[in-house]
Amino acid sequence: MKAWILEKQAKMEGRPLKLVDVPTPQALDNEIRVKVLVCGVCRTDIHIAEGDLPLKKSPLILGHEIVGVVDETGKGVKKFKIGDRVGISWLHSTCGKCSHCLSGRENYCSDFQCTGWDADGGFAEYTTVGEDFALSLQGIDMEPEDIAPLLCPGIAGYCAFKLTKAKKRDRLGLYGFGPTAYCVLRVANHLGIDVYVSTRSPRHIEEAKINGAVWAADAMKEEMPCTLNSAIVFPPAGVLVEPALCHVKIGGIVVLAPVSMSTIEVKNYSKNFWGRDVRTLYNVIKTEGQEFLSIAGKTNIRMGRQVFFFEELNEAMILVKKGKIEEPNAIIKVADDWSLG
Ligand SMILES: NC(=O)c1ccc[n+]([C@@H]2O[C@H](COP(=O)([O-])OP(=O)(O)OC[C@H]3O[C@@H](n4cnc5c(N)ncnc54)[C@H](OP(=O)(O)O)[C@@H]3O)[C@@H](O)[C@H]2O)c1
Ligand SMILES: [Zn+2]
Ligand SMILES: [Zn+2]
Repeated sequence: MKAWILEKQAKMEGRPLKLVDVPTPQALDNEIRVKVLVCGVCRTDIHIAEGDLPLKKSPLILGHEIVGVVDETGKGVKKFKIGDRVGISWLHSTCGKCSHCLSGRENYCSDFQCTGWDADGGFAEYTTVGEDFALSLQGIDMEPEDIAPLLCPGIAGYCAFKLTKAKKRDRLGLYGFGPTAYCVLRVANHLGIDVYVSTRSPRHIEEAKINGAVWAADAMKEEMPCTLNSAIVFPPAGVLVEPALCHVKIGGIVVLAPVSMSTIEVKNYSKNFWGRDVRTLYNVIKTEGQEFLSIAGKTNIRMGRQVFFFEELNEAMILVKKGKIEEPNAIIKVADDWSLG
């Protein structure tokens, strides 16, 4: 099969990914093999390619926003059959035996393996995954190009949202309005939750209002109109944490989504922090991924994407790195349609 491989990390401008022929993987035991239709580009792919994150195997096939169709099943597979449409996200596998895995909190498993980092991902014609970690796309009537970006920012946003425990008629604050926050806004609207968005750029403020935020402005400059039940901080900006805590009422929850964060300073503990719960998003949970896809299918969550040919992967990643793509997401088209053979 044709695949883009990374052997040696380097700046994207040096085109570290090479398009080569490699043996097509086989589906073992409880694995399915997926013919890849599309795979989205995520900033994490760039961080791995450039060496901001360590290279865990070489050669490595990147890509963890995979949409495709099952074309081979291992002997032990029960949940999927050939022809089923599936998604593969960042969660490639966990141990299945530890207390976290056994209590449905596999996001904390110390053996959490990531697609396109620990295991080969989707910038290839075929990829394999254990059946327990593939997401069913049955009944989700959306273009594969629209599904792919839901598999990373969408699922991560939904897992952050679940941590807020927000319920109907609650007031939820979102700090920063990138693709992840957009997905949370759409889900929250669907569930009857009022959303208050604090972001800086006029473009994001406008987008938040168009997509149903009851209030959107820069809360560092304009006063939040009411207290919130819960809030999620998306950008890795520690400076946003105390304002978010302050806006949430006593007994409320603040979720920090980033994987890294600049220094967090709380100047007034008693007024702004005392009585609030702070939680962090730490990887994703499979059942929540599946739950999110079903909501996305019903509510038509579409993020905007620019589609590139398979051969254009390096160029697409350079454009994403420079923030020069026209849409929020870059999607690589690997195959033309769902057909097998
Ligand atoms: N924990 C996990 O397992 C996990 C998994 C996946 C993703 N994530 C995290 O989820 C987050 C979501 O990322 P995203 O791609 O949606 O975009 P993002 O990094 O959250 O940024 C979204 C927006 O936030 C605003 N922003 C950025 N810096 C800011 C600052 N210093 N002050 C105020 N606003 C600022 C910007 O909009 P304006 O210009 O309008 O202000 C930006 O477009 C990331 O932090 C990522 O690390 C976590
Ligand atoms: Zn990602
Ligand atoms: Zn485990």
